[in-house]
Amino acid sequence: MFVRRLHFLTLLFLLSFMTPVSLSWRPWNHTLMVNTTAAAVADPLGITVSKKYEGSSDFVKLRYHMGPVLSANITVHTIWYGRWTRSQKHILRSFIGSISPESTTRSTASSQLATVEGWWRTVQLYTDQTGKNVTAHLKLGAEKSLSRYSHGKVLTRLSVQSVIRTAITGRRPLPVNPKNSLYLILTSEDVMMEDFCGQVCGFHYFTFPSIVGYTLPYAWVGNSARYCPGVCAYPFAVPAYAPANWSPGKSPNGDVGVDGMVSIVGHELAELASNPLVNAWFAGQDPSFPTEIADLCEGIYGTGGGGSYTGQLTVDSDDGSWYNLVGNGGRRFLVQWIWNPVLNYCTGPNAIDQ
Ligand SMILES: *[C@@H]1O[C@H](CO)[C@@H](O)[C@H](O)[C@H]1NC(C)=O
Ligand SMILES: *[C@@H]1O[C@H](CO)[C@@H](O)[C@H](O)[C@H]1NC(C)=O
Ligand SMILES: *[C@@H]1O[C@H](CO)[C@@H](O)[C@H](O)[C@H]1NC(C)=O
Ligand SMILES: *[C@@H]1O[C@H](CO)[C@@H](O)[C@H](O)[C@H]1NC(C)=O
Repeated sequence: MFVRRLHFLTLLFLLSFMTPVSLSWRPWNHTLMVNTTAAAVADPLGITVSKKYEGSSDFVKLRYHMGPVLSANITVHTIWYGRWTRSQKHILRSFIGSISPESTTRSTASSQLATVEGWWRTVQLYTDQTGKNVTAHLKLGAEKSLSRYSHGKVLTRLSVQSVIRTAITGRRPLPVNPKNSLYLILTSEDVMMEDFCGQVCGFHYFTFPSIVGYTLPYAWVGNSARYCPGVCAYPFAVPAYAPANWSPGKSPNGDVGVDGMVSIVGHELAELASNPLVNAWFAGQDPSFPTEIADLCEGIYGTGGGGSYTGQLTVDSDDGSWYNLVGNGGRRFLVQWIWNPVLNYCTGPNAIDQ
């Protein structure tokens, strides 16, 4: 077993230089998601409404590859890389802190609204070979602020591992617990990441012992506000080449970049939980380019979603902001749906027909 794991890691290590793995989504490119048979979806900019699209069970071959899922209670350690305001941190902490059932406040639980906790229930449907589900319990852990850009303003998939190493070995290090924690590296809007904007809004992977000293699941998500909000903070911003009548939605917490990050953080957490070592739940033959449970539902936030149509959301009648979930204290978020392995399509708690 040990040797096999080693081979697997070595293989992935080599492949990681060649291909991006476990990338996050872009608003228009659904080539991973569907066979273009769903003609409406094939048109990247056409607003499409197919009654019950939300992914298509016929073409998706999601498989379990016998690896672990995150079934133990998980602590999320956040690394704030670059400059972050207090309110930006607050939005992202509030989202992550709303996932666990014990964190849900009465006011949100008793209301009609779909919750962040309810959204995570789709992720909990994934199990490992012993039948253990993905955990319901995700909590915020220690944080590290690297506000002086210790590794520069241009990072790569490899150098981000050095950032983690710094965070767990430097002064006041983050705790290390490979079984019960994951690491979330969030970069401020002035930081560039390899392939950011073109191919990548976020990714997840695990660290290499040769660089970090441990195999730790981690995810990176960047604030795209400066470089490419139309790509990574969609639908709160739209791509530059979008037709004039394609207007962005109002972001629920007044920060286009960070409100856009919320959905990508959700995407990466869902995939980390179901595929932490990239050997558990994914579709496709190639483990160096897996299509995972959130990739399958990119850009779908509500009933009818698909193509560049978000699906049915809530638009606040007072301030016009777009959201589909509420978290603690009634804070609003717009978060993409997740592939449901029982129903074989994308689901979310705000579905109007489930
Ligand atoms: C979508 O992504 C694929 C693979 O990266 C690429 O070949 C294709 O041109 C992209 N399509 C659009 C519309 O960006
Ligand atoms: C996509 O759908 C078409 C029409 O049903 C089919 O001929 C084709 O083989 C499918 N392609 C893939 C990659 O599944
Ligand atoms: C997981 O977290 C929940 C809620 O905090 C707690 O009740 C439970 O005992 C924890 N389980 C383990 C194994 O620590
Ligand atoms: C665990 O996963 C199974 C299989 O998807 C599902 O039937 C069950 O409801 C899940 N349990 C929880 C607590 O989500």
